[in-house]
Amino acid sequence: MRGFSVLEEHVHSIFDFAECCLFDGDVERKLALTHRAKQILDNGLLKFPVEGDPGLIASTVFPDKPELLMPRDMPRRRLDTMEGKAAFFHALAHIEFVAIYLAWDIIFRFRGLPDEFYRDWLIIADEEAQHFALIRKHLQSLGFDYGDLPAHRGLWSHAEDTADDILARLAVVPRCMEARGLDVTPAMIGKLKTMGDETGVEILTRIYQDEVGHVERGSYWFNLLAKMEGFDPERHYKELILSHYQGKPRGPFNREVRIIAGFSNNEIDWLEERLHE
Ligand SMILES: [Fe+2]
Ligand SMILES: [Fe+2]
Repeated sequence: MRGFSVLEEHVHSIFDFAECCLFDGDVERKLALTHRAKQILDNGLLKFPVEGDPGLIASTVFPDKPELLMPRDMPRRRLDTMEGKAAFFHALAHIEFVAIYLAWDIIFRFRGLPDEFYRDWLIIADEEAQHFALIRKHLQSLGFDYGDLPAHRGLWSHAEDTADDILARLAVVPRCMEARGLDVTPAMIGKLKTMGDETGVEILTRIYQDEVGHVERGSYWFNLLAKMEGFDPERHYKELILSHYQGKPRGPFNREVRIIAGFSNNEIDWLEERLHE
């Protein structure tokens, strides 16, 4: 693994940054490196070399904490208690933290794509790092830090399941997991409003706006790369969801916002039909 010092010299390959962020569990270093990579991109100095081998996804390094549990083992808490509120924001912090890994991994794992693809996902990695920092700060104001509570093991498994197929990755991560966030976030914002948590409302509103953009980039690249590989994008999306996403979809779907994020009405109709199967 290349060290941090290499990046402070002159080798500004996006894949070196990705490697440092994916194979080091240190939270602060990951946030700093992600912001630094974005700055170098903005300065026009980031390189996108075509050669390189990403290796196995199984060697990705996560921090020792939080402890990762199966969803069924996660303690259930009510949002109207202090502990419940902390657990809610801890769960969101974990989603954003894994989202930093997901953005770096889609860069690192899938080589030979247009430079614009890597630019888009670095901008997303940087936004996920900002989301994580915002939620973590709010969590700290409640007397907890990221890592103090257990977290959901399942999120990263979608990356592992789609490690060798860029179209499956795009279908399952931005166009399924992140898209689900677009369905459920407005109700979360409403709940926080009734609780008088103005900071929480502000943070989730900001995240919601950014996430529309992440799903839109997912749709854009899915459709483009699917066509380049000779697939009908809508048909292939359905096939990939059926083969890579276990279980039924959960609704209801936020059709208006999903359309802005690049879903077609046909795709949303199909997801809705599956709810009633
Ligand atoms: Fe996010
Ligand atoms: Fe996102």
